[in-house]
Amino acid sequence: MARERVTAARALCMRGYLLTVSLSAWMDGVHGIGVQLIPQYPVVSQSVTLSVTGVTGAIRQFTWYKGSSTDTNNQIFSVIPSYSSVTEGPQYFPRASQFPNGSLQISGLVPTDQGNYTVLIQTAGSRAQHTVSLPVYEPVTASGISTDNKEPQENHPVTLTCSANNAEQILWGKNGVPLPPGLTLSADNRTLTFPRISRSDTGQYRCEASNAISKIISDPYTLTVNYGPEYLKIKGKLQVTSGNSISLECSADSVPAPTYQWKFNGTNLESQTNPLYTQQATPESAGNYTCIGTNSVTKLSRETSVYVSVNDNSAAITVAIICGSILGIVLISGIMALLYRKCLLPLRGQSGDRGEDPSQIYYNIPNTAAAHPAIEEGPYMGLQYPSQDTYSELKR
Ligand SMILES: *[C@@H]1O[C@H](CO)[C@@H](O)[C@H](O)[C@H]1NC(C)=O
Ligand SMILES: *[C@@H]1O[C@H](CO)[C@@H](O)[C@H](O)[C@H]1NC(C)=O
Ligand SMILES: *[C@@H]1O[C@H](CO)[C@@H](O)[C@H](O)[C@H]1NC(C)=O
Ligand SMILES: *[C@@H]1O[C@H](CO)[C@@H](O)[C@H](O)[C@H]1NC(C)=O
Ligand SMILES: *[C@@H]1O[C@H](CO)[C@@H](O)[C@H](O)[C@H]1NC(C)=O
Repeated sequence: MARERVTAARALCMRGYLLTVSLSAWMDGVHGIGVQLIPQYPVVSQSVTLSVTGVTGAIRQFTWYKGSSTDTNNQIFSVIPSYSSVTEGPQYFPRASQFPNGSLQISGLVPTDQGNYTVLIQTAGSRAQHTVSLPVYEPVTASGISTDNKEPQENHPVTLTCSANNAEQILWGKNGVPLPPGLTLSADNRTLTFPRISRSDTGQYRCEASNAISKIISDPYTLTVNYGPEYLKIKGKLQVTSGNSISLECSADSVPAPTYQWKFNGTNLESQTNPLYTQQATPESAGNYTCIGTNSVTKLSRETSVYVSVNDNSAAITVAIICGSILGIVLISGIMALLYRKCLLPLRGQSGDRGEDPSQIYYNIPNTAAAHPAIEEGPYMGLQYPSQDTYSELKR
């Protein structure tokens, strides 16, 4: 009964309002009322005040509605401040309360509180209404980057997805700076698409999800682009003296690093899977050394070969012994000749001139033999460039 009377009174007032509003609006204090949200960005489970501004003079009555119209069914409550009288409407809920200055407070905000609210204010001379949109913000949660391709190969498509709830804006960064231009983002920025990923796309990616009240930066996602092996090559001395060591190093441009296998004269050296191959040189170790590099992700293999020649040191030693023997004979003959001259021709005794020291000569012979191969042993690089058919293989 009470509610019906209030409604009837309101209906009468409304008719009066429709007739008088155009005249009174610019004469009375309620013209140009507004509603300010305190806080500006209301947060779920917290409270908000819809504070009525721009009213001058005493408020006789004010009514709040859920929605954009002053339909009776939308009414939350109607208040006559001077009587402290509150009439609850069909949309009343206990979390809603009022202040005598016309404001509405909603506590314990829930997402469904979001929407339009209309206030109708009546002062001594007129009535005015205002509709405000109430947003209810929820903090951004769980931001992380996922991918559809955990081991991407160069030139293949890759999509990164930023997972976040309640985000209004999503921004991406690579290696701590905003994304370089030219990348494809979805309309909501949630997915970053590389139609054909390149090795230069390797890096640490993060996404930042935010709304008016919160922001979350994801953990970095390290995007590794797999490619190669390319530029497989062997470095090392290709002319080695028997007894010295053969040392060959195989390398390639490859992600991940390739596994290596060495071959000698076309036969696998089973235990040789290290990029560095070392061995004591013997005449039998001369031959064709092959390095095969295989990338476990791209499944591509490359190989390159070098020919290592071994100088037989024993020949040099034989030569040295023969030369030494000849020189020895020459020296002995010389000494004997000297002694002969000293003993048999004592009148011309020359103590100062001792001639050649035999020990010096012996040292010189092996030195020359050892110095010789060192000059010939120059470094060598076997280079293999990527062939065109490997590239076309990758493109498919
Ligand atoms: C109305 O009263 C409430 C509670 O005291 C206050 O928060 C709000 O700022 C007031 N509004 C105006 C326009 O003064
Ligand atoms: C709120 O009102 C605006 C116009 O003021 C309208 O565009 C919007 O659709 C309304 N929202 C709801 C939920 O009714
Ligand atoms: C998408 O990202 C661009 C910058 O890359 C930014 O300017 C824009 O505001 C973002 N849009 C959304 C909806 O997050
Ligand atoms: C070494 O062997 C490879 C095959 O294993 C062959 O293609 C290459 O011609 C050989 N090189 C030499 C110098 O014998
Ligand atoms: C390896 O091959 C080379 C020729 O390429 C040959 O001279 C050498 O005897 C071979 N070595 C062995 C151990 O088969």
